[in-house]
Amino acid sequence: MRHDNDSSVPSARRPARVLSRPLYGSHFRRYGLVEQSRALCAAFSLPAAKTASMDDLTSTSCLEAIRWTGDAIEYVDQRLLPHDEVIRRAATVDEIESAIKTLAVRGAPCIGVFGAYGVALLRQVLSDDEAFRAAVRRVRDARPTAVNLMWAVDRVLRASDMVAEAQAIHAEQRAIDARISEAGAEIIPADARILTHCNTGPIATAGGGTALGVIIAAARAGRRPHVFVDETRPLLQGARLTYYELAQAGVEATLIVDSAAALVMARKNVDLVIVGADRIAMNGDTANKVGTYSLAIAAAHHGIPFYVAAPRSTFDFSLRSGADIPIEERPADEVTSYGGARIAPEGARAYNPAFDVTPGHLITAFVTEYGIIRPPYAESLPDLELRPNLIAVA
Ligand code: MRU
Repeated sequence: MRHDNDSSVPSARRPARVLSRPLYGSHFRRYGLVEQSRALCAAFSLPAAKTASMDDLTSTSCLEAIRWTGDAIEYVDQRLLPHDEVIRRAATVDEIESAIKTLAVRGAPCIGVFGAYGVALLRQVLSDDEAFRAAVRRVRDARPTAVNLMWAVDRVLRASDMVAEAQAIHAEQRAIDARISEAGAEIIPADARILTHCNTGPIATAGGGTALGVIIAAARAGRRPHVFVDETRPLLQGARLTYYELAQAGVEATLIVDSAAALVMARKNVDLVIVGADRIAMNGDTANKVGTYSLAIAAAHHGIPFYVAAPRSTFDFSLRSGADIPIEERPADEVTSYGGARIAPEGARAYNPAFDVTPGHLITAFVTEYGIIRPPYAESLPDLELRPNLIAVA
């Protein structure tokens, strides 16, 4: 898979819209973070991010990760961020599946929303039931670890009005993210030094973000967090996307290589770690971007609280433990090459799991739309299962 151009994406019906280029790098060097945020918003003809209340949280990102147009799903191609902000259209099963598989659309809640719209769209264009079922299977199976994708697809399939259901899932995600950010306020002290991994902001959820949403809300509440951002090898979601979203939100950040995390915990007074999740089992075992497990071990060693922020749709109530969570294995060339250039010797083998599973006993608490959930998870998580799936959206 290549991440420096769009050659692996099937051609869209209409040419992709390049909204700005190369906006991020040059503007970031020239201005401070807030000015950067304003410049990005101006480029999109959107109101600049403002000092906002919690209610405004979902409007903090200038980029709308996903947009339903009635005959297609428009999405920001996340592989090209932060240097190019390109909007593409997915209107066929090939385009929908490819966007998910190639990580053009990524982040567990975001692929759930995208998959929901995708299935609703395919029902409109595929009148043959067998062809529709086959297309749905391709979308549902496009990535195996994030349970949000299957959850959202199945929910749309049960609905009589599939488009309305997909829109409801999208609207709920925004409301849920705002509630997660609100619930997370109590774990972020003033001047907190926070470490995070991968990307969990608005573009990862099609809402306001989970772990990053908590951090951004704390910044907006005047708590001045400083974030150490793991670069997140091999696809650099931290360096490319988390740093970008924190810059947009005006939050202070320092980029580190993943392997520096333990030293940063030992020497840089890290107060807490907060990450997102792709699937959580009933004993609290949590699948998230590979590298999360070693972060949790290092945090436990240093006595640093380790939080996971995730919506209820990321909990898999059918799994007793993380041992049964399927781990996506991605192509070796994501590890042996970088930016299209080979870095390992020709013929080098690589094992490239996209996720790992952090044991529940290493997790201090879960931050959800229903509040903070603490151990023992064998008792607290079944209670979450009994809650309704829906958050009423005004
Ligand atoms: O492979 P990705 O980039 O889709 O992985 C994303 C993550 O691991 C995120 O931490 C997780 O999906 C939570 S998104 C709010």
